[in-house]
Amino acid sequence: MAAEFEARDFHARGVQIRNLRVSYQTPQGDIPAVNGVNLSIAPGKITGIIGESGSGKSTLAMALMNTVPRPGRIISGSVVVDGIGDMLTIDKESRRRAHGRHLGFVFQASQNSLNPLRRIGAQVLDLGRSHNVKDLRALIKRAKELLGKMGLNADRVLLSYQHELSGGMRQRVGIMFALVLDARVVILDEPTTALDMLSQASVLQIVRQIHQERHLTTVLISHDMGVVADLADNVVVMYGGELAEQGSTEEVLAHPLHPYTQGLIKAIPRISGPLDQAVALPGLPPDSAALMAHGCLFAGRCPKRLPVCGESRPTYESVGQGRYVACFRVAGHD
Ligand SMILES: Nc1ncnc2c1ncn2[C@@H]1O[C@H](COP(=O)(O)OP(=O)(O)OP(=O)(O)O)[C@@H](O)[C@H]1O
Ligand SMILES: [Mg+2]
Repeated sequence: MAAEFEARDFHARGVQIRNLRVSYQTPQGDIPAVNGVNLSIAPGKITGIIGESGSGKSTLAMALMNTVPRPGRIISGSVVVDGIGDMLTIDKESRRRAHGRHLGFVFQASQNSLNPLRRIGAQVLDLGRSHNVKDLRALIKRAKELLGKMGLNADRVLLSYQHELSGGMRQRVGIMFALVLDARVVILDEPTTALDMLSQASVLQIVRQIHQERHLTTVLISHDMGVVADLADNVVVMYGGELAEQGSTEEVLAHPLHPYTQGLIKAIPRISGPLDQAVALPGLPPDSAALMAHGCLFAGRCPKRLPVCGESRPTYESVGQGRYVACFRVAGHD
């Protein structure tokens, strides 16, 4: 392995997100996709971010990298990565260098981020050159190691074009790209959705193994509480662009405080018992009218709703031991 990789420090980097707001400008008005998020991502841990479709997970992930695409716009906040600075205010060149080198990212539906006209191996070299990697031979060696670990025929994959690979293979290639420059913070947005159950389990095992070997700080985004429960040290629950609850995975699974989290856990068959006892969460995620309203975003679906829940938004508060929740019941209004 090249010295330039070996020489790098092994201190895991944390990320501090403060008052982050991102909205999408649409003809119907601005959609607040991430609304005042405060979150510290612990160094060296796997943090799972979970929530239904549209809850703002991908937008949060892209804001972490400062790559929110139009019509999205970061309205306010800061995203401080240890040793790098605030991703939202550092200069363009530092940000470009941070991408890949310090922050690895697997986009949702990662198959789309590959260049269809170039072989995978050529794209690894492109990535290396764009980051001034001197030893490109060592870089290819690392790419091969990673692909091999993920059960792929590395030589064949590097010679392939995107269209020659299956969805599952592309997803693993996406993970290789996120890791090949030895990034210390890795963000995986639904890294296994295109995979069957068996490949999903093996890719997640590999993510865990690489996370441990390299002392990574890993952010794993999923709509599947089961995936997060298996892999993550900490869980963050998003709802309607806001944080509903967070804590250690063990604590959150054993004692979910937010009625939304309780619903998500009941919906995992493996944890709630036999398949016919898994209860899908009734109702729909909040629409834009609900996002603008004063009350709790979950009030319309909440089985434990109180009168106050329709009137004001609960604040996201610490309840000790690294746990936070936004719920009036927990805050003692009942
Ligand atoms: N390009 C866009 N234009 C307008 N609105 C958008 C755009 N992208 C996302 N949104 C809106 O922002 C909100 C958050 O979307 P986001 O993709 O971050 O959610 P998600 O939690 O990642 O969902 P999924 O589980 O489906 O990936 C949604 O209400 C979505 O409709
Ligand atoms: Mg998403």
